[in-house]
Amino acid sequence: MKRIVILISGRGSNMQAIVRRCAQDGWPAQVVAVIANRADAAGLGFAREHGIATAVVDHKAHASREAFDDALAAVIDAQRPDLLVLAGFMRILGPAFVRRYAGRMLNIHPSLLPAFPGLHTHRRVLEAGCKVSGATVHLVTADLDHGPIVMQSIVAVLPGDDEGTLAERVLATEHCIYPQAIEWFVRGLLRVDGGIVRHADGAPQLLR
Ligand code: GRF
Repeated sequence: MKRIVILISGRGSNMQAIVRRCAQDGWPAQVVAVIANRADAAGLGFAREHGIATAVVDHKAHASREAFDDALAAVIDAQRPDLLVLAGFMRILGPAFVRRYAGRMLNIHPSLLPAFPGLHTHRRVLEAGCKVSGATVHLVTADLDHGPIVMQSIVAVLPGDDEGTLAERVLATEHCIYPQAIEWFVRGLLRVDGGIVRHADGAPQLLR
């Protein structure tokens, strides 16, 4: 069984979708720990109820970004993860941390990267008048919200949309593409070729 560690900062709905998928028969992976940088991250309760180890590494308790990253890495490494999953984890991780988990750390971002990295994604999509948005699962590199793209979903932007309605429709697709991308990863079906992620069997890496 491959070992997955998930980092969250808040409600953890993506984490929940991943845990549910891992619980299905025949899955080659298990979520061994959920770690948050805030003790009040709502998702921790779900993890505990599902018998998953939880930990809090509070960024405010550390004097520097490097000290926080090191403390976090120590807690992660104790779980011997094959894959580290960022699921609504709202801290920027330093270059040494990113190097440590290079090639085995995934993130999800609620836009069609490389468009709209960073915060307030849906607001900026609406302000730009985009007719389409979506979500992206990608391998994490030192560049915030960049890195080889594993899978994307596309969602129409509707005339009456506000940030909340758009976020909700994009989030529903996140709950499909993140578990799918993770399954491919743990089954060893992905390879990175010149910065492009290809699926061994040519499965569509797009949800529409
Ligand atoms: C998601 O939209 C994710 O793409 C973004 O933050 C949100 C986290 O939601 N990075 P949740 O905590 O998984 O419910």
